[in-house]
Amino acid sequence: MLRIVVLGSAAGGGFPQWNCNCVNCRRARSGDNAVEARTQSSVAVTADGDHWFLLNASPDIRQQIEATPRLQPKAEPRHSPIAGVVLTNGDVDHVAGLLSLRERQPMTVHATGRVLGALAGNPVFGVLAAEIVQRKRLPLDREVGLHLPDGTAAGIAVTAFAVPGKVALWLEQPGLDNFGSVDEDSVGLRVRDAAGRATFFYIPGCAAMPDSLARRLLGASLVMFDGTTWTDDEMQRSGTGVKTGSRMGHMCMSGPGGSIAAFEPLGVRRRVFVHINNTNPVLRADSAERTEAEAAGWEIGRDGMEIEL
Ligand code: MLT
Ligand code: MN
Ligand code: ZN
Repeated sequence: MLRIVVLGSAAGGGFPQWNCNCVNCRRARSGDNAVEARTQSSVAVTADGDHWFLLNASPDIRQQIEATPRLQPKAEPRHSPIAGVVLTNGDVDHVAGLLSLRERQPMTVHATGRVLGALAGNPVFGVLAAEIVQRKRLPLDREVGLHLPDGTAAGIAVTAFAVPGKVALWLEQPGLDNFGSVDEDSVGLRVRDAAGRATFFYIPGCAAMPDSLARRLLGASLVMFDGTTWTDDEMQRSGTGVKTGSRMGHMCMSGPGGSIAAFEPLGVRRRVFVHINNTNPVLRADSAERTEAEAAGWEIGRDGMEIEL
């Protein structure tokens, strides 16, 4: 059994974003029932119901824990059901929450060598005291078992694999091809219940669907996938930004090159969009785009959404 809770279904910035007054953010702020606020990108997973792993640690982690009783302390004086964090990249929306997980709580942070290197190169992450917070390198394409801080197996196995994407925004090297990105900068995760048959994929950032990725996802029971934009140029058209989705390492949902079309032949039983940018029209329950995505078999991730596999 795997139990998954979507802690945050929005992309970097959250929804509404602090400095955004686009139609989506405005409606979310006004308390409009059709436009629900969302926190930044993270999900939690457990195999035993008691010990949880965060897939990414968002800047909203404190709010997410307060909204999720199962992640709150169960014993005095200090305790946390959170046994570790698995990172899919080094972007601010996925790593800044680590800074809120200081306070001397034993846990393990799993990330690729590249992302661990970025954390090591940034002394502020030293607030996670090295003698109690282990950092473990996630290899590509090799399954690893997750463990509790006392060393017992957590019953969850994770395989990280490279996906088309980009190095973290704050590590971009302007002169280089794809800003100097390498395979380890952006990964997807296959998460498996070590004792049973439950498996799902968590891919909050992905710039394209090459054949190798399509083959990997074929027939999956659940994929949580990059839902950043509906159209590649929606930030430009809404006047909220100058970058396209693809410039940021994200494939859009709609159109012939979009994720909805790319998943069409894959036979994935449950498809859930996560990492949804505040400009994406699917965030409005009354939009034509929401209707179109749902008609194509997609669920629009919401904070607090729970899935049991
Ligand atoms: C992204 O997903 O492209 C990043 O989170 C952008 C950012 O760091 O603001
Ligand atoms: Mn992001
Ligand atoms: Zn907005």
